[in-house]
Amino acid sequence: MKIAISGKGGAGKSTVAANLLYCCKARHLPTFAIDADPDANLGLILGLDPEKLALLPPLSTLQEVIAGKHAGGGAFVDLNPSVEDILEDYVLQDGSLRFLKMGGIKGGGTACYCKENAFLNAILTSVLLDRPESVVLDMSAGIEHLTRGTARGVELMLVVVEPTRAGITTALAVDQLAADIELPRVAFIGNKIRSVADQRYLYSSLPRERILGMLPFSETVLEKARQVGRSGFQEMDLMVGIEGIYQQIGGGG
Ligand SMILES: Nc1ncnc2c1ncn2[C@@H]1O[C@H](COP(=O)(O)OP(=O)(O)OP(=O)(O)O)[C@@H](O)[C@H]1O
Ligand SMILES: [Mg+2]
Repeated sequence: MKIAISGKGGAGKSTVAANLLYCCKARHLPTFAIDADPDANLGLILGLDPEKLALLPPLSTLQEVIAGKHAGGGAFVDLNPSVEDILEDYVLQDGSLRFLKMGGIKGGGTACYCKENAFLNAILTSVLLDRPESVVLDMSAGIEHLTRGTARGVELMLVVVEPTRAGITTALAVDQLAADIELPRVAFIGNKIRSVADQRYLYSSLPRERILGMLPFSETVLEKARQVGRSGFQEMDLMVGIEGIYQQIGGGG
């Protein structure tokens, strides 16, 4: 299973990512948990050690490592440096999960072939196209880390949508961005659903056949978000819906 998760800021991307990752972990499925949101907080939601997380540098900031990967290239950027060592050295292991923090991409989605972007692209190429492990990629709405090349390796992009006009607008924009890079499959998940009216609103505003499911608004999740660590992770209110979605997307294990 190689999935990417996108949607409007605050829609619940990281919450959905963390809970899907929990489904993988509970089945001992080797899985890369990748935080590709520049405003990185997936690690905290997953309940990883905050001190270890703070010490884990975003991959985009590894100046010396990146320079080393391109050594001898002179003015040319090696578009496909080997990154297997990175997938060992700059990860936090948690059971069968391997957590990686990507950091921001330079130039925000413009065709920038600088060393940093080539390096991040090589990492995504490795995990999405070469390696057998499952992948859950927590992204921003911009999906700027993906290119036509790496999008081929994403079996499914899940767009998390709150039942608001702004949520719909962003979800449809993400759908278009994904189509632009020929990403094979995009589906939607409604989140923070409080009523039948919320459900109806989403069904009438999005391509109905591509809505995979709806997750309820949970007071417990909100309450936990006010406390330290694990906000909304492995929360019963969400787990039933998440399990259903995991089964539908053929998570495996
Ligand atoms: N189903 C839900 N019920 C109640 N609160 C929720 C639900 N899903 C997410 N939240 C809360 O909404 C907030 C945003 O969730 P989350 O961080 O998962 O979103 P995000 O899309 O990853 O946000 P960002 O764009 O900041 O990365 C958090 O406080 C989270 O606990
Ligand atoms: Mg997030």
